[in-house]
Amino acid sequence: MLGVSSGKGGVGKSTVTVNVAVALAGAGYSVALLDADVYGFSVPAMLGVSAGPAAGPGPVMGETGVAPVVAFGVKVMSMGFFVNDDQPVIWRGPMLHKALEQFLADVDWGQPDFLLVDMPPGTGDVALSMSQYLPAGEVYVVTTPQAAAKRVAQRSAYMARKLNLPVRGVIENMSWLDGPDGSRFEVFGHGGGAQLAEELGVPLLGQIPLAPGVREGGDTGTPVVVSDPSSDAAEAFQAIAREIVKLGKARIFREELKVK
Ligand SMILES: Nc1ncnc2c1ncn2[C@@H]1O[C@H](COP(=O)(O)OP(=O)(O)OP(=O)(O)O)[C@@H](O)[C@H]1O
Ligand SMILES: [Mg+2]
Repeated sequence: MLGVSSGKGGVGKSTVTVNVAVALAGAGYSVALLDADVYGFSVPAMLGVSAGPAAGPGPVMGETGVAPVVAFGVKVMSMGFFVNDDQPVIWRGPMLHKALEQFLADVDWGQPDFLLVDMPPGTGDVALSMSQYLPAGEVYVVTTPQAAAKRVAQRSAYMARKLNLPVRGVIENMSWLDGPDGSRFEVFGHGGGAQLAEELGVPLLGQIPLAPGVREGGDTGTPVVVSDPSSDAAEAFQAIAREIVKLGKARIFREELKVK
């Protein structure tokens, strides 16, 4: 089963991908996470394996390809392992395409139960490449409750469908903020996830509250599902992981990873 998350910039795609990946690994599945955001990678920092080649060993060459970095039980590959933070990645489309191909074909992923792909914002080159390399891919769309975010997420869902990648579900992030006194603020409005799910004819897999612990988890490199597993946000991520397992049962991952 292949999960690809997609949607508007800054809605929490990387946060969701990382936490769901770690939750799946924690549930005993073999999980691979490809950071396809080659220009704006954020996965390494979120998993505490950041800082590029200057910082340490990074991925090493094994007998059957480059060994991915393992963090919280998840096998990770990211452009962030090859460049330092102060080095911009400036590439034309074909190089990007080639890099993604190498990340899929030359990395020793083994036979993971799930490969999650963290997509860059927007619809574009990377989505096109991924649809060619992972024709059995599936898309999970992340949105906030806000109408504007929903519209962009919807476009990325339509793009996925055009590329023959089925959309399997919607994940609503930043759904509300709970105050210490039990009051609830719907900072980004209400209903975007449910509406999008209905329009796309797919389930709303979960709603994740806005919570300082989620942001801190991303900043410190210990995802909230590990640092505070009984928090509402962590439980929401775990529930989404369970939904993805349910959806994924029929389509166990096999040869799709091999590009050639
Ligand atoms: N539920 C949440 N509660 C609090 N902060 C959150 C939540 N989800 C995401 N964030 C924070 O919001 C910011 C944006 O999240 P993230 O980087 O995951 O978004 P993205 O959609 O991947 O962005 P991009 O489009 O740039 O790739 C991050 O600082 C993250 O820690
Ligand atoms: Mg991101």
